[in-house]
Amino acid sequence: MSLAGKIAASATSTTRFTTGLSRAAVRANSAAAVAPTVKAEKSTYRASPSLFKQQRFMSGFAAGPGSEKIPSFADYTKERSADSSRAFTYFMLGASGAVLTSAAQSSVHGFLTNMAASADVLAMAKTEVDLSSIPVGKTVTIKWRGKPVFIKHRTQEEIDDANSVNIQSLPDPQDDASRVQMPEWLVVVGICTHLGCVPTTDAGDYGGWYCPCHGSHYDVSGRIRKGPAPLNMEIPDYQIEGDKMTVG
Ligand code: FES
Repeated sequence: MSLAGKIAASATSTTRFTTGLSRAAVRANSAAAVAPTVKAEKSTYRASPSLFKQQRFMSGFAAGPGSEKIPSFADYTKERSADSSRAFTYFMLGASGAVLTSAAQSSVHGFLTNMAASADVLAMAKTEVDLSSIPVGKTVTIKWRGKPVFIKHRTQEEIDDANSVNIQSLPDPQDDASRVQMPEWLVVVGICTHLGCVPTTDAGDYGGWYCPCHGSHYDVSGRIRKGPAPLNMEIPDYQIEGDKMTVG
């Protein structure tokens, strides 16, 4: 069977299922309508049957290669000079930089705000002590910034003893007057300067403190007199107003 005959037969069978026409009517219509078209297309394209079918389906959308018309968008476009493009680029870069700078500033400010000590922390940084509650000759231990602080109400005998020491013989030479604001009140951070133990009060060979960790002896001025500790006990910041002492 020729190609035209095959196509006519296919069209005949398809039409029969879709329209319900009689076989004779379909055959007559197919022979009259399809065959000339097939002949015309066959003379134009010498291609495979599949390509031929494809051409037939596409024939309603395109007239042929090179027939498409691309519309012009010239009315919708603007002509830009090189200067205007450069100015726009600079503007965008500047705007982006300003936004980034503002964001960075905000982040740093928030970070520093969180890192700053709050009011309650600052309040805890100072500790108030009622000195009238500490008898002469007694020592109290308070907690200041997480550390022990010894407050010793010295007797006159202890004051005299502290001032009688030849400071040149001390491991950490320091006279007693430079370690106190009022002779009767000695205030020291209660941490051994060797490795950080808390010394025992009213103990040791010099009547002050003794650190049992490695055997350091401190006198009634908190100065190291014997043992491995290299320095005197630290004096914290404090103020005395009447009977009130504020440490910190
Ligand atoms: S820590 Fe006090 S003597 Fe070593």
